[in-house]
Amino acid sequence: MSIWWSLHLRREAASVPLARRLLLGTMEKAGVDPDISYDLSVALSEACANAVEHGGRAAHPDGAHSCASPGGFQVTAYLDGDMCRIEVADSGPGFPAVGHGHGRPARTPDLDAEHGRGLCLIREIADHASFGNRPGRGGAVVSFDKILKWRTDAPLVSA
Ligand SMILES: Nc1ncnc2c1ncn2[C@@H]1O[C@H](COP(=O)(O)OP(=O)(O)O)[C@@H](O)[C@H]1O
Ligand SMILES: [Mg+2]
Repeated sequence: MSIWWSLHLRREAASVPLARRLLLGTMEKAGVDPDISYDLSVALSEACANAVEHGGRAAHPDGAHSCASPGGFQVTAYLDGDMCRIEVADSGPGFPAVGHGHGRPARTPDLDAEHGRGLCLIREIADHASFGNRPGRGGAVVSFDKILKWRTDAPLVSA
């Protein structure tokens, strides 16, 4: 079994639960184990929240935002056999050159820190995760994958 879907979402807060619900719905229909689906939905939510929060165009030096900002980001999910891969790509400034990116591990956050947990969570949940920037076009790309487990009554396992 091999399926994929792709969404183009507005860079606004409501897009986060929308993407999460769509992933959970697909996983449920495909017969994925609910714990795995939940974990993947948490990782997806963090990646989408980052695209919303950090994936905008850089502000002009005078403080105004670029009017050319396309204001969207893309979520693509691939289910291929037992593997699920999710990619979240935006058109913002991308990851800063130092500190994150290109597969380097995210720093472990302070226990009481309000920020800096999203990338760590994605890394903990996924079997493999990478955080990088799109060459040429700009924008961040967060991708992660995980081996799926299936419910015993999974409809697509026996298909
Ligand atoms: N889509 C993105 N585009 C640009 N920078 C990002 C993106 N996602 C994450 N980052 C950078 O990585 C940092 C850590 O992200 P995260 O762990 O989710 O913490 P937080 O979002 O709370 O700052 C962010 O503060 C930001 O600097
Ligand atoms: Mg975050």
